Amino acid sequence: MRLKNKHIILGITGSIAAYKAAYLLRGLVKEGAEVQVVMTPAAKEFITPVTMSALSDRPVASEFFAANDGTWHSHVDMGQWADLMLVAPVTAATLGKMAHGIADNLLVTTYMSAKCPVYLAPAMDLDMFKHPSTLKNLEILQSYGDVILEPGEGELASGLHGKGRMQEPEQLVEEVVAFFNSKKKLLNKKVLVTAGPTYEKIDPVRFIGNYSSGKMGFALAEELANQGAEVTLVAGPVDLETSNFNIHRIDVESAQEMHAACLNYFPEMDAAIMCAAVADYRPKAIADKKIKRKADEMNIELEATTDIAAALGKLKTDNQMLVGFALETNDEEKNAVSKMAKKNLDFIVLNSLQDQGAGFGVDTNKITILSKDNNAQEFELKQKKEVAADIVEKLSQELQKL
Ligand code: CTP
Repeated sequence: MRLKNKHIILGITGSIAAYKAAYLLRGLVKEGAEVQVVMTPAAKEFITPVTMSALSDRPVASEFFAANDGTWHSHVDMGQWADLMLVAPVTAATLGKMAHGIADNLLVTTYMSAKCPVYLAPAMDLDMFKHPSTLKNLEILQSYGDVILEPGEGELASGLHGKGRMQEPEQLVEEVVAFFNSKKKLLNKKVLVTAGPTYEKIDPVRFIGNYSSGKMGFALAEELANQGAEVTLVAGPVDLETSNFNIHRIDVESAQEMHAACLNYFPEMDAAIMCAAVADYRPKAIADKKIKRKADEMNIELEATTDIAAALGKLKTDNQMLVGFALETNDEEKNAVSKMAKKNLDFIVLNSLQDQGAGFGVDTNKITILSKDNNAQEFELKQKKEVAADIVEKLSQELQKL
């Protein structure tokens, strides 16, 4: 009974996947949850309120008033009562209404009155799912702090195969349990992550870059999103994909573009993790035509780029955390500690190139986390995914202290 005494609103909308809501409801009730079902008028075309009220042992709320005696169904009271609102399945139409405040049914008014976190499990056909309006609405909802439970790929009711299939009821129950176990440590937190290299143009076909793959930064973004954070990922040129709706990705090329994106987003963030291998120098002038081979030697005059971490360090308020990385080859701890002070970081993640399996391109990393209070935490060589979990754990502990 992992959900004993938990109050959950289960919203159901008009999708074929609504039949799965019966299994979901059963799963939640079996775990001890008290569930109030709220259905849109369209949902009732797919599954009957009788089934849902029998399984939840409560009347289903669907209309603002009960037709027979005029009883008022208070969406405000329901919104206050609930510890979590889960809408599963949620259709493209309801996503649009929620994103834009079109409160023309009890489900959307309840959503807008809810004080608790909201989880949304979309279900729709693959083309509807990837339509820009759906993607935009999901982004908007995520910016309100709602958590999108990614639909999976598979066979769809239309007979087509693709992304849009609602997560299975058992998976959704586990998401709910994880929420109440507070496994999600960063709900309602906004975190900026920089990742990958930057490319600094020399001429139209050449650039100065580095070997950073972006894997560490992307692993961090994934882990932050898994912990419920709303992530803004500013990525240099990398060959990596992101498909998590709680990650808002902005692709940039140069240090200057990365700096501009970070300045734009940092003020609204709770934390920023500077994981990018930003070029320290760029060509002073970019040739507008391809440079021809002429003499045996040539020089490119370079100028310093902006130190993005240091720039954010200057802007940082008492309610924000700033985390940096240091990749060192010698005097590791000393260099890292001085970087932390120079850039006004709260903690710094050190990786030494002397450690086998750490650094660019590889899937593993070995880190030491150095804090402002002179604390050093050394970790084993691990997969970057697990390293990301250690860093995110440290961040969530530090955020709690603010
Ligand atoms: N960093 C940044 N902007 C830069 C350079 C670095 O935001 N222009 C950030 C990196 O993302 C990292 C930290 O600063 O979090 C340390 O980067 P590093 O290159 O190791 O430090 P530098 O200050 O550039 O020092 P040096 O290259 O001399 O070691």
